[in-house]
Amino acid sequence: MQEKTFYITTPIYYPNDKLHIGHSYTTVAADTMARYKKLRGYDVKFLTGTDEHGQKIERTAKSKGLEPKEYVDGIIKWIKELWSTMDIDYDIFLRTTDEKHVSAVQKIFKKLYDQGDIYKGYYEGLYCSPCETFFTERQAQNHKCPDCGRDVESIKEEAYFFKLSKYQKRLEEYIENNPNFIMPKTRQKEMINNFLKPGLEDLCVSRTSFKWGIPVTFDPDHIVYVWLDALTNYITALGAYSDDDTEYKKFWPADVHLVGKEIVRFHAIIWPAILMALGEPLPKQIYGHGWLVINGSKMSKSKGNVVNPIVLINRYGVDSVRYFLLREVPFGQDGNFTNESLISRINSDLANDLGNLVSRTVGMIDKYFDGILPEKQKSLSIDKEIEDLSIKTVINVENYMEQMFFSDALSEIWNFIKRCNKYIDETTPWILAKDESKKEELANIMYILSESLRIISILIEPFMPNTPKHIREQLNIKDENLNLWESTKKFGLLDRKVKITKGEIIFPRIDIKKEIEELDKLIKIPTTKEEEKEEVKNELISIDDFDKINLKVGKVIECEKVEGSDKLLKSKIKVNNEIKQIVSGIYKYYSPQDMIGKNVIVVTNLKPVKLRGILSEGMILAASDENGNLSLCTVDKDIIDGSVVK
Ligand code: MSP
Repeated sequence: MQEKTFYITTPIYYPNDKLHIGHSYTTVAADTMARYKKLRGYDVKFLTGTDEHGQKIERTAKSKGLEPKEYVDGIIKWIKELWSTMDIDYDIFLRTTDEKHVSAVQKIFKKLYDQGDIYKGYYEGLYCSPCETFFTERQAQNHKCPDCGRDVESIKEEAYFFKLSKYQKRLEEYIENNPNFIMPKTRQKEMINNFLKPGLEDLCVSRTSFKWGIPVTFDPDHIVYVWLDALTNYITALGAYSDDDTEYKKFWPADVHLVGKEIVRFHAIIWPAILMALGEPLPKQIYGHGWLVINGSKMSKSKGNVVNPIVLINRYGVDSVRYFLLREVPFGQDGNFTNESLISRINSDLANDLGNLVSRTVGMIDKYFDGILPEKQKSLSIDKEIEDLSIKTVINVENYMEQMFFSDALSEIWNFIKRCNKYIDETTPWILAKDESKKEELANIMYILSESLRIISILIEPFMPNTPKHIREQLNIKDENLNLWESTKKFGLLDRKVKITKGEIIFPRIDIKKEIEELDKLIKIPTTKEEEKEEVKNELISIDDFDKINLKVGKVIECEKVEGSDKLLKSKIKVNNEIKQIVSGIYKYYSPQDMIGKNVIVVTNLKPVKLRGILSEGMILAASDENGNLSLCTVDKDIIDGSVVK
């Protein structure tokens, strides 16, 4: 029998030390799908990686005094750690700086050139450097990038072009004949109406104005323009165009490229055309999912509205965060992130529904049967209803998972969980327990609940890799066969007379009001107004603007806590011959004793204000991070107070 294979990919990420919960969304979805297929017995390859070339990286590295490779190496280490914290179990992590990828891209470029699909010409046009994308006048209206809104630059340079226009007709036919190629359907329409119908232009695939990229072997002044470099990762990762392409032969074409909606056009138009030119099969599906948004706008580092997944994982555990991402946002559409929505999901679905079902079931077996799971006796009609629902749930979950309707799949599982909780309320085991003649009935209920939990633990495994373990430990399931996906299709497999181990509560209940207050402190979600302010803040300032601020070194000579406040310190700071009184909200981080003698940096020309009735004649500078740490800015050598800082 031929082995069933499944190849799924995420986009390769730009090296960014602030990958946020939005980025994690694509990866969590791909990981969930890969885990699901593994459970279903497929031989799975799950690819992720990093897109490391381009002018932006070159510039950033330079500004830090680093070589580009040195700079990206540090970030990639961090990204891998993030994925490990999120339990992302990828099979291949491709870096576009990997030797294997570089040489395959060079071969591909040469092949396309030799066969006339790449030719040399001049590029004159508009380029968005942060997005590393060229635009036509029509696309970049008012010379603003249509993707990020920043200014585009006018560029003219010698460049190689890929004959994208040659493939227009074949692409149109392919999309028409393969209705599931671009999903969801709305994205397919977008591609046809916005890109194919207006007509495809040839694509610039090389640059000479910067160096950080893969050199074109036969014309080394040119480097391969980043999308040709990036997209080919999906085949070079499997060894295509290398000495060993066994995996390529086995896994290509990909079953699905999972991508965010803004990069569907690269995957659904440019990538298939490149593959057509190479004579390689096309991926089976491009799935463009929606964004996780905040107040309707995409999370982005420059807007300052990013949510750090690590902060959430440290507080609620990785399974809760993964659950939230895939439950809250119907895959394909945009979903709004708020601290309230996160906490309410965790509390209602995980603590109240699932957590409660586990602790009630195990608790009752412990109480009524001394912890020994009783023999199933006879079937009552209400039990049959649960059994039938279990079988039906599995079928529906499978259907949804095949279409990557994660939220619907979870909703099915939770309907079953809720039904089980209701079954407890309906059968009232605590009343049956008082009547010896009802012992058999009670035993039955305990068995039905435990068996349901066994099945639930399998169904949630792709989404929540850790929780099933905790459920199985409590139910004392030792036989691995009882954890296989196939075993969900039969109700009644759980061993009887097994000792149940009452364990810790798997999802503790949350005091929502208190928790939201706490979380609001850690994760600041800007309101639309604040976002606008943030954008203004991100605008560049001139040196004259900077010169308006007087920064000086000051020595703290006295410091005390402000009476009646648990935040404020009042410091007397010597700046030259002047003593300034400054009130600052740093008591949580520094005691008055810590402060005395420090050489701090003071803004000396701020308008005085009164804080809690006390005059404050300036500001002490400090750095704070999103994890709630604060550190004063000081000078690192002894220098006299009053020295100017610039
Ligand atoms: N390097 C390119 C992809 C090249 S693939 C050959 C790229 N990288 S990225 O780092 O900017 O984005 C990676 C993925 O994260 C994209 O699919 C993008 O849509 C996704 N997300 C980034 N922010 C997001 C949200 N706020 N919400 C959901 N996904 C988002 O694009």
